[in-house]
Amino acid sequence: MEQLNIHPELNTELLNFKLPEKLGFGNIMAPVMFKADYNNGNWESGQLLPYAAISLDPASKVFHFAQILFEGLKAYKVETVHPVLFRPEENWQRLNRSAQRMLMPELPQKLFMQALCSVTAFCQDLIPAKPLHSLYLRPFMIGTQASLSLSASDTFSFYVIASPSGPFKSSPLKVFIERDNTRAAVGGTGHVKVSGNYGAALSSTSNAMNKGYDQPLWLDAVEHRFIEELSIMNFFAVVDKEIVTPKLTDTILPGVTRDSIIRLAKEDGVVVHEQAMDIDDLLFSIKSGSCTELFACGTAAIVTPISVLADKDDQKYELPTLDDPVALRLRKRLLDIQQGQTEDTFGWLCPVPKQDWQIGD
Ligand SMILES: Cc1ncc(COP(=O)(O)O)c(C=O)c1O
Repeated sequence: MEQLNIHPELNTELLNFKLPEKLGFGNIMAPVMFKADYNNGNWESGQLLPYAAISLDPASKVFHFAQILFEGLKAYKVETVHPVLFRPEENWQRLNRSAQRMLMPELPQKLFMQALCSVTAFCQDLIPAKPLHSLYLRPFMIGTQASLSLSASDTFSFYVIASPSGPFKSSPLKVFIERDNTRAAVGGTGHVKVSGNYGAALSSTSNAMNKGYDQPLWLDAVEHRFIEELSIMNFFAVVDKEIVTPKLTDTILPGVTRDSIIRLAKEDGVVVHEQAMDIDDLLFSIKSGSCTELFACGTAAIVTPISVLADKDDQKYELPTLDDPVALRLRKRLLDIQQGQTEDTFGWLCPVPKQDWQIGD
């Protein structure tokens, strides 16, 4: 393990922290954060600090040129002795693809894993050992150089904060087709996890919500015809008992959950097509009954069925209620692995053992 500097007040912070009964998702912040700075072309040693406000120069490039990227993953502790991270290497690789795209420094894998493991181990007693509960981890990196000229920052800070969380909204999603605005364009940043993508999606999300829907469904920027994804989830359909999902392009975020679902479905013998999906063909197949399910997947929501797809003219395309939907079968398969309730044959879980600097048993 790399050297880790632990703040002397940290254990007192933990002893004084009271976990509320109602957690929600991503609302309660654990009393710890990891920080590593990048100066003079090098990552410095990591620090485990009490969770606190960050002080930054107002001219920091993150504020003016959005040099900021983030990740999201969960640690579970339902049936396992130690908390387990789910496929953290995938998040590390995606973080470094985001860094490359944003002219930010790549993070060594050891530093990324030190950050995740130290925060998770510190929080291990704050992770509810209950189904669907987890520690949601949010790594992020910002450009900190104070300068208003448009160029990449030469100093950066990497953080991991964590939120003991309950289930994400699990009722079926009502989705509104976004026919006007776009989330990502060819050559842009849709395939990486950078904050600008999300800020730019907010007005469509609010628009969809004002109409009584949960999220917009994004289409391609050129023809407004091909399905891409939801704002924080990848998109799937079940057509003629086979799974169809948009083929990855540089306008779609390659979700870790998306990849896991495809692999689980194939293992179960379900045919999976990764291909361009024309929205009008999909609407036709919902009407004709050949499309029986739509669902979305991502770290927060795992797998969530979509009950309604709605178009601009307020036309609604409702999906039937099935006895044994593919979406719920895959959701259970994935959760059983994540929660340690079935054998992890893919080797996806990464246990986080207790660290020698931790207090308590
Ligand atoms: C735009 C977008 N698509 C898809 C996903 C799902 O990705 P993952 O399964 O890695 O959480 C996310 C969440 O990170 C996202 O922000």
